[in-house]
Amino acid sequence: MNQECFVTGGSGFIGQHLLALLTRKGHPVTLLMRAPQRLPALREQVEQLGGRGELLSAVAGDLASPGLGLDAPARERVRQAAVVFHLGAQFAWGLSVEQARAVNVEGALAVAELAASQGSRLLMAGGFMLANHQHLQRLGIDLQTPSRTDWDQVYRRIGAYEGSKLEAHFRVLARMAERAAALTVVHPATVCGHSRSGHILATQPLAGLIGNLADGVLSAIPGSAAHWLPLVSVDFLVELMLAAAFDSEQVGREILALDERTPNLQGVVQLLAGVLGVAAPRRHVPIALLRLLLKIPGLPKLLRTEVESLDFIQSTRFDTAATQALARQHQLLWPDIAQAIQATARYLASKPSAV
Ligand SMILES: NC(=O)c1ccc[n+]([C@@H]2O[C@H](COP(=O)([O-])OP(=O)(O)OC[C@H]3O[C@@H](n4cnc5c(N)ncnc54)[C@H](OP(=O)(O)O)[C@@H]3O)[C@@H](O)[C@H]2O)c1
Repeated sequence: MNQECFVTGGSGFIGQHLLALLTRKGHPVTLLMRAPQRLPALREQVEQLGGRGELLSAVAGDLASPGLGLDAPARERVRQAAVVFHLGAQFAWGLSVEQARAVNVEGALAVAELAASQGSRLLMAGGFMLANHQHLQRLGIDLQTPSRTDWDQVYRRIGAYEGSKLEAHFRVLARMAERAAALTVVHPATVCGHSRSGHILATQPLAGLIGNLADGVLSAIPGSAAHWLPLVSVDFLVELMLAAAFDSEQVGREILALDERTPNLQGVVQLLAGVLGVAAPRRHVPIALLRLLLKIPGLPKLLRTEVESLDFIQSTRFDTAATQALARQHQLLWPDIAQAIQATARYLASKPSAV
């Protein structure tokens, strides 16, 4: 039952935890790595997270290169993969459209092509905004015929990272349908640290928020009391990904990985502030006003906030019934999200360079 897997983005935050889980379950994993010389360090990290480093191997490649930059021996090595997990992405604010498209759209299509051509199941990481159809329509995405969407306009409205994630999703869906190939998409909410250890990478958006709070840069809560930043703990997310990847009933499905018990943003900030020993801001600042303020040159740097990050703070509530059913069926227990939030703050506070 220890089927082979191919993983892109394995060195990233979600990737590291996925590798720990896959190898703990005995799956041999081949990674797509831009810098395969970093494999020994990644093996060590995966072992620290409870996985088995010796089950990892790597092929050199790049999502932005034609055919993923894989040579013939590398293609041969990944041919046996039962599942291709696509987690690799340029995940940052302020990307150029060209850069975001090359890695996040063309790269995702190349991964889809590879999975389809060798009959592997594809498990792709999307993003929870793809489950907010009103939001997608507001952005001008044609949900009936996504190929009619003016993507340049979507990128202008929402920024290159999120625009490219949305475009990649619809184009991969279309490509896999054309090829009659097996696809499952997991849409993570903003990812919180491990529910017990709190492990998180400093580059993650939630770590940025915690850093701003610790340094006194967060003086007001964006939005109102109805606003929230939906979260999911990284350990539960990867459990869900693994369950979905090997469950034939999940082919063709989209799974929303979002903990609906996440407190509103004010509640999250209060939990974090309690751990960090700082005062939580009490005032709210309307998102529309914050957007305007962030247009003032120098202010994003001063407030350490990029306007693109505000789109994830919203008042929409999501239907997670299908996710709850999948979790029940695979006996996955949702960790306590409040404890995961606090563990994340404790983890970052214990690493002074990270906060
Ligand atoms: N974290 C969240 O809150 C969140 C929420 C929703 C969706 N997601 C999605 O989940 C996925 C994983 O996110 P993450 O937080 O784990 O991201 P991350 O920590 O930023 O990791 C990104 C990964 O992508 C790889 N990568 C970047 N450019 C590449 C390229 N040109 N070729 C090959 N690999 C490349 C990086 O490898 P290097 O080591 O070479 O840099 C790294 O392994 C992404 O698709 C992201 O959009 C994340």
